[in-house]
Amino acid sequence: MIRLEHNFCLQRYNTFALVAKAKQFFEFTEPEELSFFIQNKGLPEKFLILGGGSNLLFNGDFDGLIIHPNVPGVGEVNEDRNFVYIEAGAGVEWDELVRLSVVYELGGLENLSLIPGKVGAAPVQNVGAYGVEAQEHIHLVRAISLDDGSLVEFSNEECRFAYRDSIFKNELKNKVVITSVVFKLDKFPEYKLDYGALKQEVGKLGEVNLHNIRQAVISIRESKLPDPKQLGNAGSFFKNPVVNTTEAERIIESFEQVPHYSSSDGNSIKLAAGWLIDQCGWKGFREGNVGVHKEQALVLVNYGGATGIELVNLAEKIKTSVFEKFGLELEPEVNIL
Ligand code: EPU
Repeated sequence: MIRLEHNFCLQRYNTFALVAKAKQFFEFTEPEELSFFIQNKGLPEKFLILGGGSNLLFNGDFDGLIIHPNVPGVGEVNEDRNFVYIEAGAGVEWDELVRLSVVYELGGLENLSLIPGKVGAAPVQNVGAYGVEAQEHIHLVRAISLDDGSLVEFSNEECRFAYRDSIFKNELKNKVVITSVVFKLDKFPEYKLDYGALKQEVGKLGEVNLHNIRQAVISIRESKLPDPKQLGNAGSFFKNPVVNTTEAERIIESFEQVPHYSSSDGNSIKLAAGWLIDQCGWKGFREGNVGVHKEQALVLVNYGGATGIELVNLAEKIKTSVFEKFGLELEPEVNIL
């Protein structure tokens, strides 16, 4: 099914709930429909691929074409001794996939419960939470090339995953549209409970199993992160800064309390941006229609009726104060348009 609209209101298509209009909006449910569109109509110069809009800030109207992949369906494609391979359409709600994986007792995605957004966006920014990143369970990504509408595939290695990063944000940005993702899920799950208070939260629920891990992650997230359906937000607004060990030592020497995690390569340290922002006194700050969430300083919120500009201005002020106090440059995690 396709849908082509003009002068389309995007408020329901971005979790900040910002009011913005798109000149054109194209939604499709079958990969071939996008191929047909590209091969017969061609794409305008200005276009944007929009999934669940959970990582996006519209700083005004969008004077181009929005491509909204809404490919449905979750199903098994293969199975071997240890794994089941599940393909999910780009338009499937991420948390619906996680819920199903837990119902079928397949391990891997449970720590990623309740992340807003759609399956198609998961490989783009390699979503992660509570010690797990999507890259650990992505087997294959299927997409449509925007050059000629052909079907293309990317193995896990070809996706070049890194912290909140992949080839789809770099070389392939605006070159392909992801239509489905094949996940490799464990029949014999290995639980990952080392992050923060997760183990403790699971303990409160009883036995360590996929279901209880999912419930524990859901309650931790619900206690810290605002539900975008109730309060417009896009999760973490900034990335946690990754610095070299010398830089990290400089900061840790002056600010012993700073939460930090060493990276897998051992050469860099990730610092908690939420803590840095919190230390600058921003938590719970409100100005007009925008503010900083009262439980998590990394999350900026729209109290209703905000413009993208208000959010960008607040983000700039936060950035400046973190730089003045810590000498660190925060980078936004959300895409500002
Ligand atoms: N902290 C504060 N004050 C705050 C916020 C955090 O002191 O206002 C401290 C916490 O006490 C903790 C540390 O900073 O010691 C880290 O905080 P938290 O565990 O809440 O996680 P985070 O680093 O802020 C990251 C991801 C989240 C993900 C959580 C859990 C990024 C940019 N964010 O947040 O992802 O859910 O870890 O794994 O990597 C998202 O990407 O939108 C997102 C929500």
